[in-house]
Amino acid sequence: MAKAKTTTFFCKECGCESAKWQGQCPACKAWNSLVEAPKASGGGDKRLARGLIRESAAPVSLHEIESGQEERFSTGFHELDVVLGGGIVPASLILVGGDPGIGKSTLLLQVCRNIAADERSVLYISGEESLRQIKLRASRMGEFADSLKFLSETNLDTIAETMRTHSPEVVIIDSIQTMYKEGVESAPGSMGQVRESTNVLLQLAKGLGITIFIVGHVTKEGTVAGPRMLEHMVDTVLYFEGERSASYRIIRGVKNRFGSTNEIGVFEMQSDGLHEVENPSEFMLSGKPEEASGSVVTCAMEGTRPMLLEIQALVARSNFGNPRRTAAGADYNRVNLLIAVLEKRLNLHMSDCDAYVNIAGGMRVSEPSLDLGIVLALYSSYRDVVIDSHTIVFGEVGLAGEVRGVSQAERRVNEAQKLGFTTCILPKSSADRIGHVDGMKLIGVRNVMEVIDLC
Ligand code: TYD
Ligand code: MG
Repeated sequence: MAKAKTTTFFCKECGCESAKWQGQCPACKAWNSLVEAPKASGGGDKRLARGLIRESAAPVSLHEIESGQEERFSTGFHELDVVLGGGIVPASLILVGGDPGIGKSTLLLQVCRNIAADERSVLYISGEESLRQIKLRASRMGEFADSLKFLSETNLDTIAETMRTHSPEVVIIDSIQTMYKEGVESAPGSMGQVRESTNVLLQLAKGLGITIFIVGHVTKEGTVAGPRMLEHMVDTVLYFEGERSASYRIIRGVKNRFGSTNEIGVFEMQSDGLHEVENPSEFMLSGKPEEASGSVVTCAMEGTRPMLLEIQALVARSNFGNPRRTAAGADYNRVNLLIAVLEKRLNLHMSDCDAYVNIAGGMRVSEPSLDLGIVLALYSSYRDVVIDSHTIVFGEVGLAGEVRGVSQAERRVNEAQKLGFTTCILPKSSADRIGHVDGMKLIGVRNVMEVIDLC
C-alpha cells in the first residue's frame, strides 16, 4: 500500500498554505500552527506516482457535452427562489451567511418545512441547538411533515455516515462553525476545521447528489474563521442582512453558479417566523409623516430592484461651537460633503447648525443617487418648507452643485408611478432620455440651485 503522500502544509488558525513546515505561520504569525495536509496518493503505475510520467485527459468540445436538463425545485418562498436563480439546483452547495441572531436558522427551518411538504426528504442537522430547542422554535411555525428529520450532532464523520444511510434530498448544516472532523487538530470554528468540514460536505453533495445548505456566522470584525474563506468552495453564497432592531431582512445573492447575483429578496421577521415582503417600497414608506419638513422620498436600486425610501433630515441651531452631524443608513462622509455643497453653493449657514440624516426603516444605502434626496431633505428642514408628499427625488450631486445622471432612471420612475407618485425630480440628462411617462410629471434639473427654486 502506498502511504498517503503529504507535501503541503496549512495553518490551523488562518488557513494559509505553505510548501514547507515552519514554526510560525507567515500570515497570522501564530506559533506551531502549521499542519500537514494529506494529499491523494497515486495508485497504479509507480512512475505515475513518482511524477515521471503523466496521465493525459481527453478535452471535449461544447457540443459533445450532454446538457442535462437541470430540474430545479422551489424553496416555497418566491423571494428566495428568485435569489437562487429560479429555485434550488439538486446536488448544489449553498452557503447562507449572516450576523448571529439575524434569522438564518429560522429561514432554513421554514424552507425545510416547505420542501418537506412537497414530499421530499429533508435532514436538519443542528450543532447549536438541542432537539428540544428546535422543537420550541418549530412550534411557533405550525405543522411539519414527517419527511423532515432532525439531528443534533457536530461530528462530521457521524453526519457523513448518516447522510449515506438515509440519503435525504436536502440537508441543512447549522452551523459550519460548530462542526468538527476527527483527525484535524484545531478547535471547531477555526479556519482549518471549517475548511476541512466544507471539503467533506462538498464531496458528499456532489457524490451523493444531495443539496446542502451550510449556515455560517459572520462576525463584524471578521476575526472568527469567516465563511468568506468558503466562498470559492461552494456553488452559491447568500448573505442575510438587516438591522437587528428593524424587522425587515434582506437576502442577497453574492455568488451564484446557476444564476445572476443581482437579486435580493425581502423578508419581515414576525412572531411566527419570516414572511415575504412582496412590495418592499410600500413597506419602507409605511408610517411616513404627512406635511412634515425634512422628509423626502427617493428611489434606490438594490441590484435590479428599485426600492422607494424615505430620507429624513433635521437641521437645528447648534448650541456649541462644534456642530453635530450624524448619518444613519447613509454614508457619513457623503452627508458631510453634501452639507458643504449646501453651504458653498446655496449660501446656507450650515456651520452653526447640527444636522441629522436618517433613512427611515433601518435600510443602509450607499448609492450616490441618494444625494439629491439628502440635499433636498436638509434644505427642507433648514428652511422649514414641506416637500409635496407625491414627489420623489433622485440624482447624484457633484462638488460644483451639479446634478449628474444615474443608472436605471426609468425603472426608478416606473416604481414611483406604481406607488402613486405624480412628480419626479431627476437629473436633466436622465429626464431627456426617458421623455414621457403616463401620469408622471418629470422635472429635469441641472444643479441644486434649480431644485431649490422648485420649493
Ligand atoms: P435565528 O434564526 O435563531 O438567528 P440565527 O440562526 O441567524 O442566529 O433568529 C433569532 C432571532 O429571531 C431571535 O432574536 C428571535 C427572532 N425570532 C422571531 O422574532 N420570530 C420567530 O418566529 C423566531 C423563530 C425567531
Ligand atoms: Mg442559528
